[in-house]
Amino acid sequence: MGITPPPVLAVGLPPEIEAMIADLLKNASVSRIPLEMDALIAEVNPKPCLVISGPPRSDLPANEIAQSLRMQFQEIPVFLCITQKEGFERKSFIKNGFTDAFLLPMDLSNLRAGISDRLAEASKGEIRTFRPVKIIDLEPGTALDFETHIFLPANKRHIKLSASGDSLEGDRIDKIKKSKFSTIQVPAEQMKHFYSYSAKRLRDLGTSALSVTEKREKLSGAVRDLISGLFSEQTSSFESGQSMMKDCGEIVKTYIIEGAESEWYSRIQSVLGERGDSYSHSANVSTLSALFSMGLGIGKPEDLALAGLLHDIGIAELPHEIQVLEPEQMKPEQLEIYKKHPEMSINLIKSRKLIVPDIVSKAILQHHELYNGSGYPSGLFGDRICKEAQIIALADRFDYLTRVREGRPLMTPSQAVDHLKGLQVNDPSRIHYEPELLKKLLNLFPGSKPEA
Ligand SMILES: [Fe+2]
Ligand SMILES: [Fe+2]
Repeated sequence: MGITPPPVLAVGLPPEIEAMIADLLKNASVSRIPLEMDALIAEVNPKPCLVISGPPRSDLPANEIAQSLRMQFQEIPVFLCITQKEGFERKSFIKNGFTDAFLLPMDLSNLRAGISDRLAEASKGEIRTFRPVKIIDLEPGTALDFETHIFLPANKRHIKLSASGDSLEGDRIDKIKKSKFSTIQVPAEQMKHFYSYSAKRLRDLGTSALSVTEKREKLSGAVRDLISGLFSEQTSSFESGQSMMKDCGEIVKTYIIEGAESEWYSRIQSVLGERGDSYSHSANVSTLSALFSMGLGIGKPEDLALAGLLHDIGIAELPHEIQVLEPEQMKPEQLEIYKKHPEMSINLIKSRKLIVPDIVSKAILQHHELYNGSGYPSGLFGDRICKEAQIIALADRFDYLTRVREGRPLMTPSQAVDHLKGLQVNDPSRIHYEPELLKKLLNLFPGSKPEA
């Protein structure tokens, strides 16, 4: 007999936000109250297991919402959902009394993870959510310390394939590989194990006794598997794409933290503060660059991850009115100032006394240089630009194209890949990336047939 958890209390949650989490809430009971002071202070029975509040208003600011909810619900997590970037400060919301605050849609995957963890906990594991994953380099006899399930869309059911600690034998692996459900579902609360497993597989592949060519092939295969998660049918929505990106980010982070020379990671995170958190451009560029490095066998993934985290750190030093604009919106004189940011990133690294390998500084300094010499700050061309910088540039571009921005249509990952492909082919005078590198990189993406 399952345990029915107490309801989720939705406080003035706008329909568009409810729609984003409807699939999570469908197994729980939901009670709703409006975002009005009278309703906030009225006693709620039964006590909910989780409170989710909609955006504050000028007549009902966040601190008042937090205080009123906290009077009743001391021990219960209270989440705040906000859709407006202006004035979103996670830390101060938490100081006000919220357990966590989410800027939507950017933080949707974090919000969803928070809700599903809470529901699983409150229902003693009865209400579970699953995350689609790709298991790297799945070989017979592989023991996995997380459960695996497959999802049968026809009857909307999860079928358990293996228990945690089981090893998957050949016939089951064949079943997974042959079935059209090539992704495996892992219970959300066990994702940490999945991250460590994947990070370890990547490391083992990199240090195995295989020949260089075999190693490279295996690693590219593994990276292709991971990246393909960003492209599968299930990731057609922005949210699932983001959550796949987050999974890849966690894997890369674990890979680096569990690696040898890795204390720097948490240090950098603390320097980056909020900007290094959850969804951010630098985190995505870091993840993609490290994966590209592994998949192409260029540079050290650790270096690329580090350069990715720090490449734009100098932007924070620019005048605020420039920071909020996209380069294409800037006046010529603003653009000139913006173009100083790679050097400012380097200066900031020095002034914060962060010690980074030379190649990392070089990659940061050169991340806006373009192969045909039309980039900045130095107008370097061709092989004068280091390959690491080109990898950062490509990861930067990819994230730029697939990021939600006001007034610009969002490209899906496949559209972004097509865009990158088209860029050089259609207009040879605008060769921004080393052609050979770009070709190899595009081969890491699914749908692109490996080319010789
Ligand atoms: Fe940049
Ligand atoms: Fe960037």
